[in-house]
Amino acid sequence: MPPEGFRPASPGSPSTVLSPTCGRTRWCGGSPERGPPPLAARTRPCGTGVDLRGEDLERGRRNARARGLADRVEFVEESAVGTRRGPADLVLCLGASHALSTAEPPRHTTEALRELRRLVADGGRVVLGEGFWERTPAPAELSGMWPGASADDHYGLARLLDLAVDAGFRPEWTETASPAEWEEFESAYQADTEVWLAGHPDHPLAAETRERLDTHRSQWLTYRGVLGIAYLTLVPVSG
Ligand SMILES: C[S@@+](CC[C@H](N)C(=O)[O-])C[C@H]1O[C@@H](n2cnc3c(N)ncnc32)[C@H](O)[C@@H]1O
Repeated sequence: MPPEGFRPASPGSPSTVLSPTCGRTRWCGGSPERGPPPLAARTRPCGTGVDLRGEDLERGRRNARARGLADRVEFVEESAVGTRRGPADLVLCLGASHALSTAEPPRHTTEALRELRRLVADGGRVVLGEGFWERTPAPAELSGMWPGASADDHYGLARLLDLAVDAGFRPEWTETASPAEWEEFESAYQADTEVWLAGHPDHPLAAETRERLDTHRSQWLTYRGVLGIAYLTLVPVSG
Protein backbone atom coordinates (compact mmCIF):
# COMPACT_ATOMS: atom_id res chain seq x y z
CA MET A 1 0.00 0.00 0.00
CA PRO A 2 2.44 2.64 -1.05
CA PRO A 3 1.13 6.20 -0.95
CA GLU A 4 -0.25 7.39 -4.27
CA GLY A 5 2.63 8.22 -6.57
CA PHE A 6 5.23 6.68 -4.26
CA ARG A 7 8.52 6.19 -5.95
CA PRO A 8 11.86 4.94 -4.73
CA ALA A 9 14.28 7.58 -3.60
CA SER A 10 16.86 6.72 -6.19
CA PRO A 11 15.50 4.50 -8.95
CA GLY A 12 18.16 5.59 -11.43
CA SER A 13 17.34 4.42 -14.93
CA PRO A 14 16.53 0.75 -14.54
CA SER A 15 16.26 -1.31 -17.67
CA THR A 16 14.49 -4.17 -15.93
CA VAL A 17 11.88 -3.96 -13.19
CA LEU A 18 10.54 -6.96 -11.31
CA SER A 19 7.60 -6.95 -8.92
CA PRO A 20 7.44 -10.48 -7.53
CA THR A 21 4.06 -9.81 -5.87
CA CYS A 22 2.71 -7.14 -8.12
CA GLY A 23 -0.95 -7.22 -7.04
CA ARG A 24 -2.20 -3.68 -7.21
CA THR A 25 1.24 -2.07 -7.09
CA ARG A 26 1.07 1.44 -8.48
CA TRP A 27 4.34 1.05 -10.29
CA CYS A 28 2.74 2.49 -13.40
CA GLY A 29 1.42 5.52 -11.51
CA GLY A 30 3.30 8.69 -10.65
CA SER A 31 2.13 12.08 -9.50
CA PRO A 32 3.05 15.72 -10.01
CA GLU A 33 4.31 15.94 -6.43
CA ARG A 34 6.49 12.86 -6.34
CA GLY A 35 7.53 12.53 -9.94
CA PRO A 36 7.47 9.68 -12.40
CA PRO A 37 7.30 6.04 -11.41
CA PRO A 38 9.97 3.56 -12.50
CA LEU A 39 8.33 2.67 -15.78
CA ALA A 40 7.95 6.25 -16.89
CA ALA A 41 11.68 6.90 -16.67
CA ARG A 42 13.54 8.31 -19.63
CA THR A 43 14.80 4.91 -20.67
CA ARG A 44 12.33 2.23 -21.70
CA PRO A 45 12.57 -0.41 -19.01
CA CYS A 46 10.71 -3.71 -19.23
CA GLY A 47 8.67 -4.74 -16.24
CA THR A 48 7.55 -8.15 -15.05
CA GLY A 49 4.78 -8.48 -12.49
CA VAL A 50 4.20 -11.83 -10.82
CA ASP A 51 1.17 -12.59 -8.70
CA LEU A 52 -0.96 -15.57 -7.76
CA ARG A 53 -4.25 -13.73 -8.20
CA GLY A 54 -5.52 -13.47 -11.73
CA GLU A 55 -7.89 -10.63 -10.88
CA ASP A 56 -5.09 -8.46 -9.47
CA LEU A 57 -2.99 -9.17 -12.56
CA GLU A 58 -5.90 -8.18 -14.75
CA ARG A 59 -6.20 -4.90 -12.88
CA GLY A 60 -2.46 -4.36 -13.43
CA ARG A 61 -2.88 -5.02 -17.16
CA ARG A 62 -5.72 -2.50 -17.33
CA ASN A 63 -3.63 0.11 -15.51
CA ALA A 64 -0.68 -0.52 -17.81
CA ARG A 65 -2.89 -0.21 -20.91
CA ALA A 66 -4.43 3.02 -19.61
CA ARG A 67 -0.95 4.49 -19.21
CA GLY A 68 0.36 3.32 -22.55
CA LEU A 69 2.71 0.83 -20.94
CA ALA A 70 1.08 -2.39 -22.15
CA ASP A 71 3.99 -3.33 -24.40
CA ARG A 72 6.50 -2.82 -21.60
CA VAL A 73 4.99 -4.85 -18.78
CA GLU A 74 4.44 -8.58 -18.65
CA PHE A 75 2.04 -9.93 -16.02
CA VAL A 76 2.52 -13.54 -15.03
CA GLU A 77 0.22 -15.68 -12.89
CA GLU A 78 2.55 -17.81 -10.79
CA SER A 79 4.03 -18.04 -7.31
CA ALA A 80 6.88 -15.75 -6.36
CA VAL A 81 8.31 -18.35 -3.98
CA GLY A 82 11.69 -19.40 -5.40
CA THR A 83 10.98 -17.50 -8.62
CA ARG A 84 13.50 -17.98 -11.42
CA ARG A 85 12.84 -14.49 -12.77
CA GLY A 86 15.40 -11.73 -12.33
CA PRO A 87 17.87 -10.49 -11.51
CA ALA A 88 16.41 -7.07 -12.26
CA ASP A 89 17.71 -3.54 -11.83
CA LEU A 90 14.74 -2.56 -9.71
CA VAL A 91 12.79 -5.01 -7.57
CA LEU A 92 9.54 -3.86 -5.96
CA CYS A 93 8.09 -5.78 -3.03
CA LEU A 94 5.34 -3.77 -1.41
CA GLY A 95 3.36 -5.24 1.44
CA ALA A 96 4.03 -8.77 0.27
CA SER A 97 7.27 -10.16 1.72
CA HIS A 98 5.20 -13.11 2.98
CA ALA A 99 4.80 -14.14 -0.67
CA LEU A 100 8.53 -14.66 -1.18
CA SER A 101 8.92 -17.39 1.39
CA THR A 102 7.00 -20.20 3.01
CA ALA A 103 8.36 -19.40 6.49
CA GLU A 104 6.08 -18.24 9.28
CA PRO A 105 6.21 -14.62 10.49
CA PRO A 106 8.44 -12.98 11.41
CA ARG A 107 11.11 -15.31 9.93
CA HIS A 108 9.59 -14.82 6.49
CA THR A 109 11.03 -11.29 6.51
CA THR A 110 14.58 -12.63 6.83
CA GLU A 111 14.01 -15.13 4.03
CA ALA A 112 12.31 -12.53 1.84
CA LEU A 113 15.28 -10.19 2.24
CA ARG A 114 17.63 -12.97 1.12
CA GLU A 115 15.40 -13.62 -1.85
CA LEU A 116 15.33 -9.94 -2.73
CA ARG A 117 19.12 -9.85 -2.64
CA ARG A 118 19.13 -12.78 -5.08
CA LEU A 119 16.62 -11.08 -7.36
CA VAL A 120 18.30 -7.67 -7.65
CA ALA A 121 21.23 -7.04 -9.95
CA ASP A 122 24.43 -5.53 -8.56
CA GLY A 123 24.08 -1.75 -8.72
CA GLY A 124 20.28 -2.02 -8.68
CA ARG A 125 17.76 -1.21 -6.00
CA VAL A 126 15.11 -2.99 -3.99
CA VAL A 127 12.12 -1.05 -2.73
CA LEU A 128 10.63 -2.97 0.15
CA GLY A 129 7.34 -1.89 1.70
CA GLU A 130 7.17 -3.76 4.98
CA GLY A 131 5.09 -3.62 8.13
CA PHE A 132 6.76 -2.94 11.47
CA TRP A 133 5.61 -2.28 15.01
CA GLU A 134 5.76 1.37 15.99
CA ARG A 135 5.71 0.01 19.54
CA THR A 136 5.06 -3.38 21.08
CA PRO A 137 1.32 -4.02 20.83
CA ALA A 138 -0.58 -4.79 24.02
CA PRO A 139 -2.47 -8.13 24.15
CA ALA A 140 -5.82 -6.30 24.09
CA GLU A 141 -4.74 -4.44 20.97
CA LEU A 142 -3.62 -7.64 19.26
CA SER A 143 -6.98 -9.24 19.87
CA GLY A 144 -8.64 -6.33 18.04
CA MET A 145 -6.43 -6.56 14.95
CA TRP A 146 -6.55 -9.24 12.25
CA PRO A 147 -7.45 -12.82 13.25
CA GLY A 148 -4.53 -14.49 15.03
CA ALA A 149 -2.51 -11.25 15.28
CA SER A 150 0.66 -11.78 17.29
CA ALA A 151 3.51 -9.58 18.50
CA ASP A 152 5.71 -11.91 16.42
CA ASP A 153 4.04 -10.86 13.18
CA HIS A 154 6.46 -7.97 12.70
CA TYR A 155 9.75 -6.54 13.88
CA GLY A 156 10.48 -3.01 14.99
CA LEU A 157 11.98 -0.63 12.43
CA ALA A 158 15.53 -0.80 13.78
CA ARG A 159 15.52 -4.60 13.70
CA LEU A 160 14.06 -4.59 10.19
CA LEU A 161 16.91 -2.41 8.96
CA ASP A 162 19.47 -4.60 10.75
CA LEU A 163 18.02 -7.63 8.96
CA ALA A 164 18.27 -5.85 5.62
CA VAL A 165 21.94 -5.14 6.31
CA ASP A 166 22.50 -8.77 7.35
CA ALA A 167 20.93 -9.89 4.08
CA GLY A 168 23.49 -7.98 2.01
CA PHE A 169 22.02 -4.50 1.61
CA ARG A 170 22.79 -0.98 2.72
CA PRO A 171 19.74 1.18 3.41
CA GLU A 172 19.89 4.10 0.99
CA TRP A 173 16.61 5.65 2.04
CA THR A 174 14.17 4.97 4.86
CA GLU A 175 10.62 6.28 4.81
CA THR A 176 7.55 5.42 6.82
CA ALA A 177 3.89 6.03 6.05
CA SER A 178 2.51 9.06 7.84
CA PRO A 179 -0.79 8.93 9.78
CA ALA A 180 -2.38 10.93 6.96
CA GLU A 181 -1.25 8.33 4.39
CA TRP A 182 -2.68 5.54 6.51
CA GLU A 183 -5.98 7.35 6.84
CA GLU A 184 -6.13 8.00 3.13
CA PHE A 185 -5.38 4.37 2.33
CA GLU A 186 -7.88 2.92 4.78
CA SER A 187 -10.60 5.40 3.82
CA ALA A 188 -10.13 4.88 0.10
CA TYR A 189 -10.17 1.12 0.62
CA GLN A 190 -13.74 1.22 1.91
CA ALA A 191 -15.17 4.50 0.66
CA ASP A 192 -17.07 3.24 -2.41
CA THR A 193 -18.63 0.42 -0.43
CA GLU A 194 -19.60 2.71 2.45
CA VAL A 195 -21.39 5.02 0.03
CA TRP A 196 -23.15 2.05 -1.60
CA LEU A 197 -24.25 0.72 1.80
CA ALA A 198 -25.64 4.09 2.88
CA GLY A 199 -27.81 4.11 -0.23
CA HIS A 200 -28.88 0.45 -0.06
CA PRO A 201 -29.52 -0.36 3.63
CA ASP A 202 -32.10 -3.03 2.77
CA HIS A 203 -30.29 -4.71 -0.12
CA PRO A 204 -29.91 -8.51 0.27
CA LEU A 205 -26.11 -8.02 0.53
CA ALA A 206 -26.37 -5.12 3.00
CA ALA A 207 -26.08 -7.13 6.23
CA GLU A 208 -22.90 -9.00 5.28
CA THR A 209 -21.40 -5.86 3.74
CA ARG A 210 -22.13 -3.88 6.93
CA GLU A 211 -20.51 -6.58 9.04
CA ARG A 212 -17.41 -6.68 6.86
CA LEU A 213 -17.02 -2.90 6.89
CA ASP A 214 -17.61 -2.65 10.63
CA THR A 215 -15.07 -5.39 11.32
CA HIS A 216 -12.42 -3.80 9.15
CA ARG A 217 -13.01 -0.34 10.62
CA SER A 218 -12.65 -1.71 14.12
CA GLN A 219 -9.43 -3.52 13.12
CA TRP A 220 -7.69 -0.62 11.46
CA LEU A 221 -8.60 1.79 14.22
CA THR A 222 -6.95 -0.70 16.58
CA TYR A 223 -3.70 -0.99 14.64
CA ARG A 224 -3.69 2.72 13.84
CA GLY A 225 -0.53 4.18 15.37
CA VAL A 226 0.76 0.73 16.37
CA LEU A 227 1.42 -0.88 13.01
CA GLY A 228 3.73 1.08 10.74
CA ILE A 229 4.69 0.64 7.12
CA ALA A 230 8.26 1.30 6.07
CA TYR A 231 9.43 1.94 2.52
CA LEU A 232 13.07 0.96 2.35
CA THR A 233 15.21 1.69 -0.67
CA LEU A 234 17.94 -0.91 -0.37
CA VAL A 235 21.24 -1.00 -2.23
CA PRO A 236 22.75 -4.45 -2.68
CA VAL A 237 26.31 -4.73 -1.45
CA SER A 238 28.36 -5.99 -4.38
CA GLY A 239 29.90 -9.43 -4.41
C1 LIG B 1 -0.97 -7.12 0.30
S1 LIG B 1 -1.00 -7.49 -1.44
C2 LIG B 1 0.21 -6.34 -1.98
C3 LIG B 1 0.17 -6.23 -3.46
C4 LIG B 1 0.98 -5.12 -4.09
N1 LIG B 1 2.40 -5.32 -3.91
C5 LIG B 1 0.53 -3.74 -3.66
O1 LIG B 1 1.34 -2.93 -3.25
O2 LIG B 1 -0.65 -3.45 -3.74
C6 LIG B 1 -0.17 -9.06 -1.48
C7 LIG B 1 -0.09 -9.65 -2.87
O3 LIG B 1 0.75 -10.79 -2.85
C8 LIG B 1 0.17 -11.76 -3.68
N2 LIG B 1 0.72 -13.06 -3.30
C9 LIG B 1 0.50 -13.75 -2.16
N3 LIG B 1 1.22 -14.89 -2.17
C10 LIG B 1 1.91 -14.90 -3.34
C11 LIG B 1 2.85 -15.78 -3.93
N4 LIG B 1 3.22 -16.91 -3.31
N5 LIG B 1 3.35 -15.46 -5.13
C12 LIG B 1 2.98 -14.32 -5.77
N6 LIG B 1 2.12 -13.43 -5.26
C13 LIG B 1 1.59 -13.72 -4.06
C14 LIG B 1 -1.33 -11.62 -3.45
O4 LIG B 1 -2.09 -12.19 -4.48
C15 LIG B 1 -1.46 -10.10 -3.38
O5 LIG B 1 -1.70 -9.54 -4.65
